[in-house]
Amino acid sequence: MNFQEPPPKNLILVGFMGSGKSTVGRELHSRLGYELVDMDTVIEQREGRPITRIFEENGEEYFRDLETALLRELHDSPDAGRRIISTGGGVVGREENRDLLRSMGYVVWLHAPVDVIYDRTSRNRERPLLQTEDPIAKISALMEKRQPWYQETAHLKVDTNGLDGGELAVGILESARYFFSNP
Ligand code: S3P
Repeated sequence: MNFQEPPPKNLILVGFMGSGKSTVGRELHSRLGYELVDMDTVIEQREGRPITRIFEENGEEYFRDLETALLRELHDSPDAGRRIISTGGGVVGREENRDLLRSMGYVVWLHAPVDVIYDRTSRNRERPLLQTEDPIAKISALMEKRQPWYQETAHLKVDTNGLDGGELAVGILESARYFFSNP
C-alpha cells in the first residue's frame, strides 16, 4: 500500500487585483474559522507602510522578495495548514512561488473579466501597477501574461462574475472538501 503524506489543509486564493480574494478570504474565514492570512496586509504591517510606498521607495523587486520570503515562512512554519491564505495578484510571477503555493494546499483561482477588474480597481489608488495613463490596457496585458501562471498554479478556477463573496465561499468549500478527502 502507498501511504502518501496528505497535503496541508490550507485554502489559497490567487487571482488578479480586484478579483475578490480579500472578500472571499474573509467569508471563508468566518465559515471555517481557519486563521486568515492576507499576504498584502502582513507585508504592510511588517514594513509599517502601504504597498504604494514600498513600490515608490524600494521598487517592485523588493516587494516581490518580501512576498517570496513570506510564502517560504508560511510553508515552513510548524503549524502550516488550516489557514486561508489570500495572496497578492502578482505572486504567481515567480516559479518558486507557484511551486510553494501548490505544495501548500488547495489553490483557487478567482477570475473576473477585464471590465469588471477595471471597475473594481479604479475606485482607489492602492494599486501601484495600475497608476498609469491607460489602466485598461495595463490590466489586459498583465492578465494575458499571468493567465498561464494562474492556470498552472490553481487546482480550481472560479468565475466570480455575478456571485457575491458568500456564494463563492460556499462553492469553494464544497470543492475543497472533495479535494481534501480525495487528494
Ligand atoms: C499586485 C497586486 C496587489 C499587491 C501589489 C501588486 C500585482 O494585491 O500585491 O499591488 O502585481 O497584481 P491585490 O491582488 O490584493 O490587489
